[in-house]
Amino acid sequence: MKRDLLTIRDLSPEEILYLISRAAELKAKWAQGTFQPTLTGKILGLIFVKPSTRTRVSFEAAMYRLGGQCIFMTAKDSQISRQEPLADTARVMSRYVDALAIRTYAHSDVEELARFSSIPVINALTDLFHPCQILSDLLTIKEKRGNLNNLCVAWVGDGNNVAHSWINAAALLGFTLYLACPKGYEPDSKILEWGRREGKGKIHLVDDPRKAVATADVLYTDVWASMGQEGEAETRKEVFRPFQINESLLAAAPSHALVLHCLPAHRGEEITDEVMEGPQSVVFDQAENRLHLQMALLDWLVSGNK
Ligand code: CP
Ligand code: NVA
Repeated sequence: MKRDLLTIRDLSPEEILYLISRAAELKAKWAQGTFQPTLTGKILGLIFVKPSTRTRVSFEAAMYRLGGQCIFMTAKDSQISRQEPLADTARVMSRYVDALAIRTYAHSDVEELARFSSIPVINALTDLFHPCQILSDLLTIKEKRGNLNNLCVAWVGDGNNVAHSWINAAALLGFTLYLACPKGYEPDSKILEWGRREGKGKIHLVDDPRKAVATADVLYTDVWASMGQEGEAETRKEVFRPFQINESLLAAAPSHALVLHCLPAHRGEEITDEVMEGPQSVVFDQAENRLHLQMALLDWLVSGNK
């Protein structure tokens, strides 16, 4: 049976922890020069409807390191832009490649593609979720902190796709998550409700960022206007101003707290230059780990290695 990664909820807690430790193992092997490719002759197809730097390049680099190859296309280059049904695209692509990574707007499009594909489908970001980001962020946190025990993460900003994936991860792994979001920009209520139920009271929605960071090991933020929300950017700048991660907010957090951002960042908006370049920021190690985690993910999904 093929497996897909459309949301973190497609994984069991054990599988999440397996991917994190496998990524660390592959990273170490690569650094030591003892890495053995496991996907020679395999092909990853990438369909990207939205722009990307990290996700595209880290997936392609991951596949090349594993010994495989990639075929990248934007929706514009393909017949998807001329309304070929996703169900047909899925069945055709399944005859050519061994896995598909897709980045698009509607999460239902990824579900449709997965339903009709006989190969693993990976969500490379939708309006609703960004699972690969959070899996690799957990690797970064584990590396920096030594473990994920009694973890407390503070999300400061928009209740968006990345926040939704944090809710899923917190509920499944049982860590504490504070979400500080402006009124009207909270996470999707169904996702939050599910998270609160499954997370056994450890997921909290607050409106004061200081409250969110007070006991946090990790401060996390993301752009105020996600891809597709460009038209709302000016309004959002006003609403989100009190939700900036700056020196003053960082001072309200424990001194050991790490600062993460999925990137790309809008310096001076959701995060200041000082904090992003400061000693608590690990954003570039975080970006690097996309590569290592996705190597583990592709290896697991395509070769079935465990
Ligand atoms: N963090 C992330 O997904 O970045 P890209 O949009 O550059 O892929
Ligand atoms: N929330 C952002 C994440 C970018 C990686 C967006 O969807 O644009």
